[in-house]
Amino acid sequence: MNLNGKIAIVTGASSGLGADFSRRLIAKGTIVYGIARRADRLEKLQNELGSAFHPVVMDITIENDVRNWVSDTFKDTLPDILVNNAGIGKFGAIDELTSEDWHTMINLNLNAIFYLTSAITPLMKKNDAICHIINIASIAGKMGNPNISGYNATKFALGGFSDALMKELRNDGIKVSCLYPGSIATEFFKHSGSEIHDRMMQSDDVATVLINVLEMPDSFLIDEVVMRPLFPKSAK
Ligand SMILES: NC(=O)c1ccc[n+]([C@@H]2O[C@H](COP(=O)([O-])OP(=O)(O)OC[C@H]3O[C@@H](n4cnc5c(N)ncnc54)[C@H](OP(=O)(O)O)[C@@H]3O)[C@@H](O)[C@H]2O)c1
Repeated sequence: MNLNGKIAIVTGASSGLGADFSRRLIAKGTIVYGIARRADRLEKLQNELGSAFHPVVMDITIENDVRNWVSDTFKDTLPDILVNNAGIGKFGAIDELTSEDWHTMINLNLNAIFYLTSAITPLMKKNDAICHIINIASIAGKMGNPNISGYNATKFALGGFSDALMKELRNDGIKVSCLYPGSIATEFFKHSGSEIHDRMMQSDDVATVLINVLEMPDSFLIDEVVMRPLFPKSAK
């Protein structure tokens, strides 16, 4: 796909991966609708990126808001790219993880992805150009680990959703890819209650992978990418 002039939706654009995905896409000439709840962060990003970045202050776990936003926004245009990036990890032993934490993860990491993807797919089917849905899972969608069972459950589920959707939508000219990154130095670890260390990947490097996956020829589909830091643990 030639990204110049394409229309992309990026969830979780206010920080970390979503902000760097937006930066990289805008640098390629893409129009980006960047969705998140923190208006101040989105405004700051728009000041940096200019008018091609459209900030959308929205909680994507509210289904009606998502569906109304999609129908209001795409009256005269059609989206080409959807990056389902927003996600959260709440870590803890199973007998310590609260129901609230469990539901927060399911609502954002799965339910919100269903709301947006099911609303955007009919528009992509109408789009004559090849379209692309990218789901940001995690290495935690490939292997379980102690104290992250809830997060594991959502990211394994997202992998299954992506694989099914890839087979369902390919003949409609819609590519579906699932990215499985290992640890990236972002605010994610503030929410999960763990620490960033100096061997983690950088979100801008992960963003270059997103661009590479999107820029492959239309006839070429990368359905999964696993990314890991070369040295997984902190030297300290
Ligand atoms: N960091 C890692 O090590 C790592 C590794 C593998 C995969 N991932 C995945 O990568 C994705 C991005 O994470 P990140 O590392 O960039 O973390 P991050 O910096 O914490 O970003 C999370 C983003 O999600 C947004 N968000 C949270 N709740 C939302 C809601 N209800 N509605 C709309 N947006 C919401 C946040 O914005 P607001 O708070 O402004 O709404 C923020 O922009 C996640 O799916 C995560 O699971 C991360």
